[in-house]
Amino acid sequence: MNMSDLIRRRRSVRTFDGVPLREEDAARIAEFAGKAENPYKIPVEWKLLDRKADRVSSPVIAGTDTFIAGKMQQLPHAEEAFGYSFEKIVLFAESLGVGTTWIAGTMDRRAFEQAMGVSQDEVLPCVSPLGYPAEKMSLRESMMRKGVKADSRLDFEKLFFKGSFDVPLSPADAGDLQLPLELVRLAPSAINAQPWRAVLCGDAVHFYKKRGRGMGGGSWDIQKIDMGIALCHFELGAEECGIRPVFRAADPGIPHEDGLRVCHETNVPF
Ligand SMILES: Cc1cc2nc3c(=O)[nH]c(=O)nc-3n(C[C@H](O)[C@H](O)[C@H](O)COP(=O)(O)O)c2cc1C
Repeated sequence: MNMSDLIRRRRSVRTFDGVPLREEDAARIAEFAGKAENPYKIPVEWKLLDRKADRVSSPVIAGTDTFIAGKMQQLPHAEEAFGYSFEKIVLFAESLGVGTTWIAGTMDRRAFEQAMGVSQDEVLPCVSPLGYPAEKMSLRESMMRKGVKADSRLDFEKLFFKGSFDVPLSPADAGDLQLPLELVRLAPSAINAQPWRAVLCGDAVHFYKKRGRGMGGGSWDIQKIDMGIALCHFELGAEECGIRPVFRAADPGIPHEDGLRVCHETNVPF
């Protein structure tokens, strides 16, 4: 299965079927995670944890005892780096038929930090359960999905622009970048806020982060994790189209509203 099919198929799984994660799946995910890199070259240490042995838990997850967690030094761009790397692992798990859910909030954070031995200069941004999806979602999971409209995404033209933020970009106008941008559109994000915006200018795509209400103000910005996920999807889509994007942090100086922050310039050589 190619990456775009995996991205279209993935959804957050919070209700699992109770079958323990098979040893071979656990080993393959741990091996993949150990090799996962990110454009920021910030190492992330991953570990598979067990609900009982490591005393970790999440109140929104049922039917599996296995979790994966990652910790890293709290450096500039740590959030984007984590988002990029973890999404690669999430999609790899999906390719094995293993369900996941990005979890930044609804977990016993202190227990996960203890299990991972997180020190003062380190951060544990998110964890995910690993297991096999149950045939039927729990009522709680269905309600949670409804609450954040998890099955829908903003329209292409509301997210992507041509030359300036005044000119919406249609899928047809995006040319070779239609698929990479569509895969950005479909990405998961915290409370499904979809903070990514992008402006296509010649052979460059400039990524911006739109600050959600009550989010993204402090020193640790969860929406930057969403941006890392977006960059991961963009790159996977581009590679599927035979394009190798080159990421570069730069501000192209495009006029924009206050709530928008430049995230990353992506040069896309054709
Ligand atoms: C950075 C991040 C943090 C998230 N934190 C949580 C969380 O704490 N609890 C939870 O149930 N879901 C969490 N989610 C899952 C989102 O709610 C979910 O991805 C979004 O609603 C879209 O649904 P989908 O993943 O099924 O496409 C998080 C997602 C991301 C990307």
